[in-house]
Amino acid sequence: MSESGKSILRFDNVTFAFNDGKHIILEEANFSVRENTKITIMWQNGAGKSTMFKLILWELKPKMWKVNLDWNAKVAISRQVIPRDQMDFTVTEYFATAFEEKDHQLDRKVIRVLDEVNLPGVDVKKPLHTFSWWQQARLLLAHALIQEPDILLLDEPTNNLDADGIGNLITFLLSYEKTVIVISHDADFLNMFTDWVLYLNRDRKLVEQYRWDYYDVVDQIQAAIDKEIKQNARMEKQIEHAKDKINEFSNKWWKMRKIAKKMKAEVEQAEENKVEVRKDDKTIAPFIIEFENFVGPIVTINSLSLMWPDYTPIDVPFNLVLKKKQRVLLEWPNGIGKTTLLKRLVNEQADSGAVLAEEMRVWYYSQDFNALDMNMVVRDALHEITNEATDQMVYKAAARMLLTGELLKQPIYTLSEGQKWLLCYARFVLQKPHLLILDEPTNHINFRHLPVIAEALNKYEGAILMVSHDEHFLSQLDRIEREELGRLVGR
Ligand SMILES: Nc1ncnc2c1ncn2[C@@H]1O[C@H](COP(=O)(O)OP(=O)(O)OP(=O)(O)O)[C@@H](O)[C@H]1O
Ligand SMILES: [Mg+2]
Repeated sequence: MSESGKSILRFDNVTFAFNDGKHIILEEANFSVRENTKITIMWQNGAGKSTMFKLILWELKPKMWKVNLDWNAKVAISRQVIPRDQMDFTVTEYFATAFEEKDHQLDRKVIRVLDEVNLPGVDVKKPLHTFSWWQQARLLLAHALIQEPDILLLDEPTNNLDADGIGNLITFLLSYEKTVIVISHDADFLNMFTDWVLYLNRDRKLVEQYRWDYYDVVDQIQAAIDKEIKQNARMEKQIEHAKDKINEFSNKWWKMRKIAKKMKAEVEQAEENKVEVRKDDKTIAPFIIEFENFVGPIVTINSLSLMWPDYTPIDVPFNLVLKKKQRVLLEWPNGIGKTTLLKRLVNEQADSGAVLAEEMRVWYYSQDFNALDMNMVVRDALHEITNEATDQMVYKAAARMLLTGELLKQPIYTLSEGQKWLLCYARFVLQKPHLLILDEPTNHINFRHLPVIAEALNKYEGAILMVSHDEHFLSQLDRIEREELGRLVGR
């Protein structure tokens, strides 16, 4: 793949499908990765990025042909999310899963790697679910690094990191000398340190390789599409012209019919020469989250519980009254425990410091999908929102989020992370909430969809309380009131 260096990983005609072969992810994909290169993967949500990593790790086996790894290359992955069944593991137990055999050096290695990912002094006896999202993001990275891999696979490593966290990660990756393959929806982040792009040709399920950064690749692909469209337009013109002539000749003397026959063959040839123009990835359709009008305070907050300092919660007075059309962004660098704060608001715990008006529908876009039953099939997860939704309404809401066909019959745990989020947005549409609580609403979502989501939030007339580090996304939202929480604890 690169101009020099030996190949460390190769896909040889790899074909892989789910649902008994009906859902093809890759079809005869061929590519190879050379040692010490840094590679971007930026395919659509649900296209098969995480699946491809599972193929590299041999967690899934390709149907046809094989994935070749340099015989002594060690591969490690920093996953998109911590597996649910490991959430009760302590930090030490979690790191132990990185090794096949008991490692007597484990404690020492854990301390070193936690230092490396900027999590010094963490209590390694605490279970993972007690850590905030940004800490979990670093633990995921540390879990891969502790294995000292030759090929480091990173699946959406920037989720939940603030600008400083992303900066640290870039610095780290720039100086990292081994092979890195990164899945991310953040082109600017990727362009800082990668120089190869693996691109999924969606129609043909082929993996293509391009040199340079993501924006160059998008330009190259667009140029190819434009060329194909032009070529087809030319062919189309010839065909039309020939067809007119054929009609003319066929209707005249029999002698001319011979010429008409010849021309028909030419038309067929021209039809064949038309190329199938490659399609770009789809974007979700515009959608509207309705609001049943309500006048007066939807939620009144009197105090907040902040994890500060040392991750111990303290209650601080804080007054905020949210009415319809108000959008408040809670701002604070990583570490204040905003997610805990949002969760408590939703659960309306007695000590949450918040009072909701009666019969308010609150929707919480939560990172652990705690509102979703993972074993439920997608269609039912939409129907359960409201008795009023007909099948047609459910299918329409899902289709807008590109959840169609077989996907609707699948249990939620088989959806990709991005598809789970898109399912949440489809549920908002059906629920018509009064208050939307959004915790990092752009995580895992392909960049193409974000302007559509921003537009839906701009049109939404209810109240929004949100946390987001995605400044690019925030710049697309109108009328955001920023609440800087640092002042509450003297920062
Ligand atoms: N066990 C499974 N059974 C059936 N389908 C599955 C299973 N696992 C994944 N899929 C489907 O395969 C497709 C690819 O999933 P994958 O998680 O690889 O996507 P992705 O590219 O990583 O997406 P995202 O950007 O959202 O993380 C999705 O449509 C998903 O629903
Ligand atoms: Mg994925």
